[in-house]
Amino acid sequence: MAIPYEVKLLIAIYVILWTRADPVMCQTYESSVAAKHEQWMSQYGRSYADEAEKEKRFKIFMENFEYIEKFNNAENKSYKLGLNQFSDLTEQEFMASYTGLKIPTTPSTVITTLNLSNVPTSLDWREQGAVTAVKDQSPCGACWAFSVVAAVEGIVQIKTKNLMSLSEQQLVDCVSGKEGCWGGFMNDAFNYIIRNKGICTETDYPFQHVKGTCNKDKEAAPAAQITGFQKVPPNNEQQLLQAVAMQPVTVAIFIDKNFSAYKSGIYDGPCQPTSKHAVAIVGYGTSEDGITKYWLIKNSWGGDWGEGGYMKLRREVPDQPQGVCGVNKEAYYPTIN
Ligand SMILES: *[C@@H]1O[C@H](CO)[C@@H](O)[C@H](O)[C@H]1NC(C)=O
Ligand SMILES: *[C@@H]1O[C@H](CO)[C@@H](O)[C@H](O)[C@H]1NC(C)=O
Ligand SMILES: *[C@@H]1O[C@H](CO)[C@@H](O)[C@H](O)[C@H]1NC(C)=O
Repeated sequence: MAIPYEVKLLIAIYVILWTRADPVMCQTYESSVAAKHEQWMSQYGRSYADEAEKEKRFKIFMENFEYIEKFNNAENKSYKLGLNQFSDLTEQEFMASYTGLKIPTTPSTVITTLNLSNVPTSLDWREQGAVTAVKDQSPCGACWAFSVVAAVEGIVQIKTKNLMSLSEQQLVDCVSGKEGCWGGFMNDAFNYIIRNKGICTETDYPFQHVKGTCNKDKEAAPAAQITGFQKVPPNNEQQLLQAVAMQPVTVAIFIDKNFSAYKSGIYDGPCQPTSKHAVAIVGYGTSEDGITKYWLIKNSWGGDWGEGGYMKLRREVPDQPQGVCGVNKEAYYPTIN
C-alpha cells in the first residue's frame, strides 16, 4: 500500500525539524557560552587556580560576551567590539593593570605653535619605516613608557634612518618616583631620556612586566637619544595634525569598556573619562568612502587587540576641539637637534 502524499510530507517536515532543531535543543545558552569560554581560554593560554575562580571568571566572561554581542547587533556604530585577552576581566580590573597614565597638574613643558603649510592628506608612518612592531605592556600600568618610546623610535628613525626598538623597561625601572607599573607621566619619561643622554634598545634592556631596580650599567650605555620635547598646543586639531605630519606623537586619551573591547572600524566613542591611557598617533587618513577622517593609533596591548594592535580613532568632529576621547588635550613629541 502506497503511503499517502500528506503523510510523506509530514514525515519529511518532521525529519527536517528534528535534525535541525536537535543540536540547538541539547545545548543551553549558558553551555554554549561556556564552550566559547573554553575555546577562548585555550586561544589566550588562560588557566585558573581552581573551580571557584573559573566560575567567577566565566560569569565575567559571559557578561562581557553579552555586552559585545548586544553592542555589535544593536548599535549603529562605525566600529565593532570583539573578544580579546581582556574578556575575563571586570572594567575595574582592566583599568588597574593595563593603562597607567598620570597628567601633570603643573605643566612645565614648552609649547610651540607649528606652521607647516603642506601637510599631506593622509600619512602612515609604518609605511615610512618609522614604527616598530606592536608591543604588549600587560599586566603593567606602563602605557606612559610605551607611548613615549613609540614617539622616540619614530623621531630616531626619521633623523637617522635607523629603526630601533627601544626599552620601556629602562623607563619603568629608572624614571624616579613611584611610577613603574603603577602609572606614570609622559613628560617625566622624556626628561629622563634627555638627562640620561639616551635610552637603550629593547634587546639590551628587555621588558619584564614588573618594575625592577634600575640597571646602572645598561643605563650608562644608551643606543639612541633625543635632545628635547614639545607639547602640541592643546585642543587644536590642526596643530596636532601638523605635529603628526612631522613624526609619531604620544597622546593621552580617555578610555572605557568599549575602547578596551575595540575590534575594528573607526572608533568615535562615546568615551566616558573612566581612565587615562597613553598611546602613539602614527598616522591619519580618511575612510574608503571618503567621509570619515581618523587618526591611526598604535596601542601597547599586543596584536590581538583592535586591528592588529592598532585603532582608527575619529578626527575632525565638529564642535569638539578636545577631540574624540580627549585626544587633542595632551600630545607631545620628542626633538633631536
Ligand atoms: C544607521 O546609520 C546610517 C548612516 O548614518 C543611517 O543611514 C541609517 O538610517 C542608520 N540606521 C539606523 C537603524 O539607525
Ligand atoms: C610658527 O610661527 C610662530 C609665529 O610666527 C613662531 O613663534 C613659531 O616659532 C613658529 N614655529 C615653528 C616651529 O617654526
Ligand atoms: C559604549 O558605547 C555605548 C553605545 O555607543 C554607550 O551607550 C555606552 O555608554 C558605552 N559604554 C561605556 C562603558 O562607555
